[in-house]
Amino acid sequence: MVDVLVGLQWGDEGKGKIVDVLAPRYQIVARFQGGPNAGHTLEFNGHKHVLHQIPSGIFRENVLNVIGNGVVLDPVILRQEIDKLAAIGVDATRNLVISKRAQLILPSHKLVDKASEESLGDDKIGSTLKGIGPTYQDKTGRVGLRVGDILLPDFDQRYREAVARHRALIAFHGATIDEAQLHLLEEAFFSATDFLRTLRLADTELLLNDAITDGKRILAEGAQGSLLDVDFGTYPFVTSSTTLSAGACTGLGVAPRRIADVIGVFKAYCTRVGSGPFPTELHGDEGERLRRLGHEFGSTTGRPRRCGWLDLPLLRYAAMLNGVSELCMMKADVLDEFATVPVCTAHPVESGAALTFAEQPGWLHTTRDIDTFSALPEPLQAYTKFIENATALPISIVSVGPDRRSTLLVK
Ligand code: IMP
Repeated sequence: MVDVLVGLQWGDEGKGKIVDVLAPRYQIVARFQGGPNAGHTLEFNGHKHVLHQIPSGIFRENVLNVIGNGVVLDPVILRQEIDKLAAIGVDATRNLVISKRAQLILPSHKLVDKASEESLGDDKIGSTLKGIGPTYQDKTGRVGLRVGDILLPDFDQRYREAVARHRALIAFHGATIDEAQLHLLEEAFFSATDFLRTLRLADTELLLNDAITDGKRILAEGAQGSLLDVDFGTYPFVTSSTTLSAGACTGLGVAPRRIADVIGVFKAYCTRVGSGPFPTELHGDEGERLRRLGHEFGSTTGRPRRCGWLDLPLLRYAAMLNGVSELCMMKADVLDEFATVPVCTAHPVESGAALTFAEQPGWLHTTRDIDTFSALPEPLQAYTKFIENATALPISIVSVGPDRRSTLLVK
């Protein structure tokens, strides 16, 4: 069976950390959407690792990691990730399989992304500029290049045709291509596609379905968050893929009947990077305090994240869309120093009216070194219970620090 793990907010919930912790329970970890716009941070043995496209099961010896058909893959970034892992003694090529149907992010997709954002001015999406949107546009426009295409004799010709289309798009956005920059990007791209040919490329939908039939357990690792979903997120300020659990079916080629649990990951407060609505956002000192205590800077772009209190109506909405069966609450330790912790409990029906907050008692206690749920300060246990009651869902993990060890199982 397949369990799916998704973010319930605007990304950066800490999904990578939970995948790394849960991975030993699975034989396969598979990414099903997004691309290098993601930055999944894992920490153990005093080292921090940021993964962009490689699934977060890569540090577990006996776990196979699959990049599914729903992913948009940047071969240059993939090679960088593999090299970085090799430098610390992890041979990622050993247990990594890539779908031949995954879409390729081309150098010119990144230039289109930039030109498109610049043309939007103040209305820009706040894209990570990794070429995600333009690559998914080509996919649904049925003109995209896929990983399997690098094996075709006319790949170069197909590439040239794609770049010609992208040139026209860039001109449409009122921008011009920096030819020297494109040339450099292309050199890196073709060198990386040569490398990609040496990796294990497969029809991963067959591999995954065979594994399920053999009784193996698969964890589907979501990227971004539910509120960035292309259909149900804060459109148009969203990413270009289905970030919900349903995306695991189309993004891996597994049928809905083969999905078992849906694990929803959320932060004990909220953050957002990029533009778009954020009802509980804090603009003053408190937001700054959350950003400082939570080190809330993007792991892909380094941008400061917008910070605010937990939003229960949005959490319930995300849990509903995903069919969440259990929750993981992340970064509870960031709230250690707050005397009270406001939580949004209702969004007013009339526009312009203030949100309703419930003030929860803070715990004013360092939680970093606590290693069991029952040893957590009572107000934090009560905060957990409050969220369980409000969502009618169990919280199975509370995280109180970035390290693997700071992951407390509730039951
Ligand atoms: P894109 O996916 O790069 O096109 O960016 C679209 C929006 O999604 C922007 O607001 C990004 O900041 C946001 N976004 C994309 N990927 C992530 C992520 O992994 N974490 C948080 N925000 C993301």
